[in-house]
Amino acid sequence: MQSRAHTWKRAGIKIGFVPTMGFLHAGHLSLVKEARKCVGKKGIVVVSIYVNPTQFAPTEDLAKYPRDLQRDLQLLRELGVDIVFTPGDAEMYPGKAQNRYSTYVVEETLSRSMEGVSRPTHFRGVTTVVAKLFNLVQPDVAVFGQKDFQQAAVIKRMVADMNFPVRIIVAPTLRERDGLAMSSRNKYLDTDQRPQATILFHALQAARAAVKTKSVSATRLKVDLKEFLTAAPLARLDYVEFFDPETLEPVTQVKRGTQMALAVYFGKTRLIDNVTL
Ligand code: PAJ
Repeated sequence: MQSRAHTWKRAGIKIGFVPTMGFLHAGHLSLVKEARKCVGKKGIVVVSIYVNPTQFAPTEDLAKYPRDLQRDLQLLRELGVDIVFTPGDAEMYPGKAQNRYSTYVVEETLSRSMEGVSRPTHFRGVTTVVAKLFNLVQPDVAVFGQKDFQQAAVIKRMVADMNFPVRIIVAPTLRERDGLAMSSRNKYLDTDQRPQATILFHALQAARAAVKTKSVSATRLKVDLKEFLTAAPLARLDYVEFFDPETLEPVTQVKRGTQMALAVYFGKTRLIDNVTL
């Protein structure tokens, strides 16, 4: 992968990159289209499919994370993707099984809140694998989804702090017709949970309506949102936060332009969503 990337770079060909864990849906495909727009017809679009073990905690869903490589390859072929990079664990983490892999990339501020509270080792795995993928693919531009807002913020910070010569694009969240944000993990929802899962989207919309013409205290809004979530009895709130979209610092007064994010459990399945109010 790296030697091919060097060949393209020497020829002045731009490389656009979309890292994924596969089981692709229309949200992923929208990032691929964005990457193509960025590099043009003459550029190379690379998509990686790698279920990265270091971003899963031992208790999480690594073993049962959904996979369908043949279907993914077909979808990417139809989109005219040039390269699908599908490394294995032995290539990405050589020597890990023998305790001979020991270098990680850690972002120490933006990673701490929200997802970082519920999943303390998650972002260390994400920044490490994305740094490795950037070194392998050598992209000029890489596209991430707003769906994982905190992840995109952490990656942007890593790129700035570590001088990666790559432009980061954040593309909008694609949703199902009923508002549920597309996610590979939606597959885990059973027929009782699935209709109730729209509560995340509806909670975001309710907050948006609440601050349309005035500011509201974050404490007040959190109380109201907990009440709102009782409309979905199978939902269990993990967190809801109101914060500055740049610094991710929590705000006390919520107003237009504040970022809102929430995580909700349905059984063992954990869904996240966010919006700029
Ligand atoms: P994965 O969950 O497969 O997501 C890959 C990319 O697709 C991420 O940038 C994510 O934000 C984006 N995405 C997911 N759902 C989306 C939606 N509904 N609309 C738009 N974009 C969406 O995120 C990861 O993989 C991993 O952490 C990774 C960055 C690949 C590192 O392992």
